Amino acid sequence: MDAFSFCNPTRIEFGVGTIRKLGMELKKADIKSCLMVAGGGSIKKNGVYEQVCESLEKAEIHFVEGWGVQPNPTLEKVIELCELAKREKVEAVLGVGGGSVIDTAKTVSAGVFLQDIWNAFSGKEKIRNALPVYTVLTLSATGSEMNGNAVITNTKTMQKWGIYSPLIYPRLSIIDPSVQSSLPFKQTANGAMDAMAHILEYYFADDRAIATLAIDDALLKTIVEMTDRLQNNSGDLLARGNLAWCATLALNGISGIGLKGGDWACHDIQHAFSALHPEIAHGEGLGVIFPAWIEYMSEKDPTRFLRWAKNVWDEENVSRALHRFRDKLESWGLAKSLRDLGIKELELPQLVKLIMTSPRIGMVSRFTAVEVESLLMLAF
Ligand code: NZQ
Ligand code: ZN
Repeated sequence: MDAFSFCNPTRIEFGVGTIRKLGMELKKADIKSCLMVAGGGSIKKNGVYEQVCESLEKAEIHFVEGWGVQPNPTLEKVIELCELAKREKVEAVLGVGGGSVIDTAKTVSAGVFLQDIWNAFSGKEKIRNALPVYTVLTLSATGSEMNGNAVITNTKTMQKWGIYSPLIYPRLSIIDPSVQSSLPFKQTANGAMDAMAHILEYYFADDRAIATLAIDDALLKTIVEMTDRLQNNSGDLLARGNLAWCATLALNGISGIGLKGGDWACHDIQHAFSALHPEIAHGEGLGVIFPAWIEYMSEKDPTRFLRWAKNVWDEENVSRALHRFRDKLESWGLAKSLRDLGIKELELPQLVKLIMTSPRIGMVSRFTAVEVESLLMLAF
């Protein structure tokens, strides 16, 4: 196992009813005001908004509200919310929602200190300061509640890129799994696919991190099992809680220890799908590209995928395991191909170009433009 460095500074409050702790936690940290970042209104329908307001008011935390973050969040919204945060002189940023809301909150927390926050995405500038970030998670998928990443689309350049900074890890994230019963099953399944993809991005990188891979086997199997249960009963709180915690562990550093930083080709490729078509949900796009990537890569090097076939799918043979993986995603109602996602064949050259604007595609195998094109054809 290679040397590694690991630190995760985010505190998690997990469980039914934990949202009520929020206000006091801010108060204990001596925070008197915050910007609440939110999406399109789901939190008003499922009672999360009332719980957040009640908790903040009780602790006498002054808050301003910044609504309208869309799935696949945009730089325009970040800029608008940075202005609001500066105008109101808030002391912290609170994301209440899924990954899009939390990523926007994190970006705003750093953006208030920079002239042009996109410079941090393009690598021209470093994040040197950020307001404290707090989150109330309503959709388990991205792991954003316990990591230092944020992914934002620049609609002008059509680039959906990420930042990482130790300064934007949430100080505290509240995960009350019961608030996720209001999710349509499709969103739950998209989230499950995203969490699996985070584990798989690391999983195939190295076979010497035996302890990490054993954790990953368990996470992958539990995600499938819990998602199946939720398909039958969206109010199954035990399944909801276990799926939520798997999704957090999938991208809080634990699932990747000793795995060379992972591959991430599928993520970079998927981000380009959503940059071109913002209506494509991140998890669903991954459900198309990841199986295609495994198919493409396993033709050259099947042994790399044997552990996954055996431990996750109980199959001796990689193509059988891949078949089971695809069947499972289809049974959850996810798209099977780029065509199903609404991507047109004539858009493929533009997609390849967009994808290749990333500094590199893949680590297990570094993809050239020609290889990306072949992969997209396989996924079409
Ligand atoms: O907008 P609202 O009203 O909040 O509704 C959302 C949205 O329409 C809805 N929703 C959330 N919680 C709900 C709910 N509906 C009913 N009941 C609830 N409890 O679900 C829809 C999708 O939300 P979104 O936040 O977009 O989904 P997700 O959590 O999957 O986030 C996806 C974004 O995160 C990025 C993705 O690229 C994408 O932009 N990622 C972030 C990562 C990170 N920060 O580490 C890593 C990931 O790989 C990923 O790239
Ligand atoms: Zn992801």
